[in-house]
Formats: sequence, C-alpha cells, structure tokens
Amino acid sequence: MFNVIKVKDYEEASDKAFEVMKDFIKPGKVLGLATGSTPIGLYQRMVKDHEENGTSYKEIKTFNLDEYVGLPISHPESYYAFMHRNLFDHIDIPEENTHVPSGLGEDLEAQAAAYDAMIAKDPVDIQLLGIGSDGHIAFNEPGTAFDSPTHVTDLAESTIKDNCRFFDNDISKVPTQAVTQGIGTIMKAKNILLIATGANKAQAVKDMINGPVDEACPASILQKHDNVTIIVDEAAASLL
Ligand code: PGA
Repeated sequence: MFNVIKVKDYEEASDKAFEVMKDFIKPGKVLGLATGSTPIGLYQRMVKDHEENGTSYKEIKTFNLDEYVGLPISHPESYYAFMHRNLFDHIDIPEENTHVPSGLGEDLEAQAAAYDAMIAKDPVDIQLLGIGSDGHIAFNEPGTAFDSPTHVTDLAESTIKDNCRFFDNDISKVPTQAVTQGIGTIMKAKNILLIATGANKAQAVKDMINGPVDEACPASILQKHDNVTIIVDEAAASLL
C-alpha cells in the first residue's frame, strides 16, 4: 500500500523527493523520469547535488514516461528538450544512457513496443510520477486499460487545457496525441515515487488513495503496487 508523506508546500515536496531519490542515484540503477512542473524542483536538487558533491550519473540509465506526437526534439516543449534543459545537460549522464520515447517516426506503435522491450531488459528501480488533475499517470488518461503497454494515445481535453500554459496559452498549439508508457509498463517499476502539489490535484489524490481501483482514475491502480511513496503538499492533501 501507500507510504503517504505530507509536506507543507512544493519546496518541501521537492526536498523530500530528493531524499527518496538519492538512495537510487548509484551505479547500475535505472531511474524512471517524468516531465511537467512537478519534478522540476527535484531535478534542481539533483543538479545541485551533482555540482556540489560530485554525485555521478555515469553508470545510471534513465527511461522517460512519455513524449508528444509530432514535436521535433528541437521544439522547446518536447519532453526530450525538457529533460535536457532541466536535468541531462547539467549532470554527467552519457546521452546513450538516457531514453525518451520518440513522438516522430513511421510506425509509432512498433517504436512503442521496442521501448517496452528496452525497459524489460533494464527494469526501472524507481519510477517518478506526477498526477494529472484527471488522475492520469504519464499520458494514461481515464479509461486506459490497466495492463496497457507503451502506446500512442489521444490527450484528454482537460490535459490539453492544463498543458496550454506551456504553449503560449494557445490551445491550438498543444499536441493532441502522445506516446506514453502504459500503465502495465509503469506498474513493473520496482518502486514508485509520486509527487502531487497544488489544489488542482486534490480530487485526483483523493480518488487515487481512497477511491476504488477503477480505470476512471488511472492512478488508483497504484493501490495494487507494493512499493509506492506519495509525497503530497497541504493543498493536494486537502480532501484526504
Ligand atoms: P504537472 O503535470 O507536473 O505539470 O502538474 C503532472 C502530470 O500531468 O502528470
């Protein structure tokens, strides 16, 4: 079941997340990484720790959760660019050790299957997750099968609206599809670390922790995972 850690705010959530993550920043470990506003504070702490303490990522591998379909990696809002800007460019991880699904190519479903095959060879030791205001994890929107593999998906209207802030607040610029690790893929991670902050996550957090395990709230499946740490700030925990 869940180890729920309540903290005051985003900064404390990022501190706590770093404390948990630090145990996995060791040679041979495989980190599952996420994008969005939530992990930025954690990544800042990882960069600072690398700079100040020399913590090395040379023998660490990473797999990201998802990528927009159709955005070139040079687009600043591609998740590839996000990861480089916020983490990879500031630590000593070899490029070939980092993996972000590609949202470009002739056969995205075949590429998605190949991505799962790579993860199967290098199982994720700890998967970092945010949660959508609609309860999604990665881009697994409500209704996604709990055993789904990495796949191409349409984004929910609420997700397009939530992510509009990254695209000049212009809804027409937000990609409508993504490649995402499936819920089945995510559930294979040995440990899960989910961070939720802000009042707009409160209902999703409540449904994840107290609701039924139901595809209407994708994150509720985490109730069936053995090693889940959830870090919530006061605002996100307000309905618990
Ligand atoms: P956010 O997104 O971190 O930008 O709030 C979380 C998510 O959609 O998983």
